[in-house]
Amino acid sequence: MTEYLTIPDTTASKEERYSQLFPQIEGLIMGENDLIANLSNCIAAIHLTMGFLWTGIYFVRGNELVLGPFQGPVACTRIRKGRGVCGKAWEQQKTIIVEDVSTFDDHISCSSLSRSEIVVPVFGNGEVVWVLDIDGAELAAFDGTDAEWLEKIMRLIEPR
Ligand code: SME
Repeated sequence: MTEYLTIPDTTASKEERYSQLFPQIEGLIMGENDLIANLSNCIAAIHLTMGFLWTGIYFVRGNELVLGPFQGPVACTRIRKGRGVCGKAWEQQKTIIVEDVSTFDDHISCSSLSRSEIVVPVFGNGEVVWVLDIDGAELAAFDGTDAEWLEKIMRLIEPR
């Protein structure tokens, strides 16, 4: 198996790191159609290449989100629709970027080290089927560049 990048290259810009990450993820999922296998490798590649605090999936299960593949500290397993950043991104069907989680009403804290967050909803048949949730250890770790690339990466795996 090809060896993939696993250490954040702190000399590279965010844009450069995502540009390198994207074809790696295309390669990782090529020829494999199992969703959990593909999401698991995708999460590991994003997490290690970008050096995030927590990177993972919450699947829509009925009226709740349920924890899926992730990398990082242990996390809460269930989040109700509309609760936390994840539940709001699901409800509003749009990517949410939180520069400072301490100012976000109803933020659900899984790690005291988390300072900022991005949540990207992913669609199948027009409905949100899971959200990609990422926590950063620094304030304002995420911006439009992250949203654009993470949405693009999720489109590689989203159900068709
Ligand atoms: N902070 C999230 C909960 C999940 S953890 O960050 C892994 C939220 O407010 O929805």
